[in-house]
Amino acid sequence: MSVTVFYFSGTGNSLAAARTLVGKLPEACIVPLAGILSADKPYLLQTDKAIFVFPVYCAGIPALVARVLDLIDMSKAKYVAAIANCASSAGTALDIFALELQSRCNKSLSAGWVIYMPGNYTPLYGSESPATIERMLKEADNRLLEIACEIQSGVAIDFSLPFALACMNRVAWKICISGLPYMQKRFRVESTCTGCGLCARVCPVNNIVMSAAGRPQWLKKCEQCMACLQYCPVEAIQCLWWTKGRIRYRHPRIPASEIIAQKSMDGAA
Ligand SMILES: Cc1cc2nc3c(=O)[nH]c(=O)nc-3n(C[C@H](O)[C@H](O)[C@H](O)COP(=O)(O)O)c2cc1C
Ligand code: SF4
Ligand code: SF4
Repeated sequence: MSVTVFYFSGTGNSLAAARTLVGKLPEACIVPLAGILSADKPYLLQTDKAIFVFPVYCAGIPALVARVLDLIDMSKAKYVAAIANCASSAGTALDIFALELQSRCNKSLSAGWVIYMPGNYTPLYGSESPATIERMLKEADNRLLEIACEIQSGVAIDFSLPFALACMNRVAWKICISGLPYMQKRFRVESTCTGCGLCARVCPVNNIVMSAAGRPQWLKKCEQCMACLQYCPVEAIQCLWWTKGRIRYRHPRIPASEIIAQKSMDGAA
C-alpha cells in the first residue's frame, strides 16, 4: 500500500470523495477515522502517504478529526495532505488542520485542497434540488480526479496563513466547535418516530441511546454531523422548529449502512 486515505463523514459526502480518490490512486486503502476512535487504540500508519478527507465545520475541522490525530502514529509518513469538503466556504479549515497535525503528530501538511459538495446543515438551510446535487457531485468528482494526479506526483502546496493569523483563526474555531455539543439540546423527536433505532446506529460517536419507550435520547458528546437527522427514515428528528419542512440531504449513493460501518475498523480496506 502506498497511500492511506482517512475519512470522516456525517452524511456521506466525504466518504464518497474518499472512495473516488481511492479508485484513482494505485495501491490505496481507505480507513475510517470514526473506526479508529471507536477502537480507542493507536493506529500505525503503514504507508508513506496519508490523505485526510473531512467536512468543514464552522470554517474549521470537525472536533473528532482533531481528536483522532492523537491516536495515529504517523512516523512513517513522508507526505500528509488534506481535502476539506464544504458547501460554500472552507474558511481556514486547511490551516487549522495543519496546526492540529503539527501539534498532535509533529508533522507538516504537505498539500491541501478544498472541494465543494452539497450542504447538509439543515438547521440553517434545506437541501439543494436533485439536479443541483448531481451537478455538484459531478464537479467534485472531476476535481478529485485532478487532485488524485497531484497526490500521485507528490505536489507540495503552501497555503498557510501567517502564523499569528492562523492561531487567531484556530481560537475562533475552537470557541465555535466547543459549542456544537450543546446544540444537541435542541434536537427533538416527533410522534411519527417508529422507534427503529437507526438514528442511534448511524451516530458516529454513539451519542444516542434508545429509551425504554423506544425513543432516541441524546447524550452530551454530539459532533453535530447531522447523520441522525438526515438518515431518519420518517424525518422525525427536528432541531427546535428550524428544520420542520426543510428538505433533508444525504449523499444519494451512500446508504445508512455505510455510515454505520465507519464506526468499525472492518470498514478499512
Ligand atoms: C456542524 C456543521 C458545520 C458546517 N460548517 C460549514 C462551514 O463552515 N462552511 C461550509 O461551507 N460548509 C459547512 N458545513 C457543510 C458541510 O461541510 C458539507 O455539507 C459537507 O459536504 C458535509 O460532508 P459529509 O457528508 O461528509 O458530512 C457544515 C456542516 C455541519 C454539519
Ligand atoms: S431513526 Fe427516526 S424513526 Fe427511527 S428511532 Fe430514530 S427518530 Fe425514531
Ligand atoms: S447525535 Fe446526531 S448530530 Fe450528534 S453526532 Fe450523533 S448523529 Fe451526529
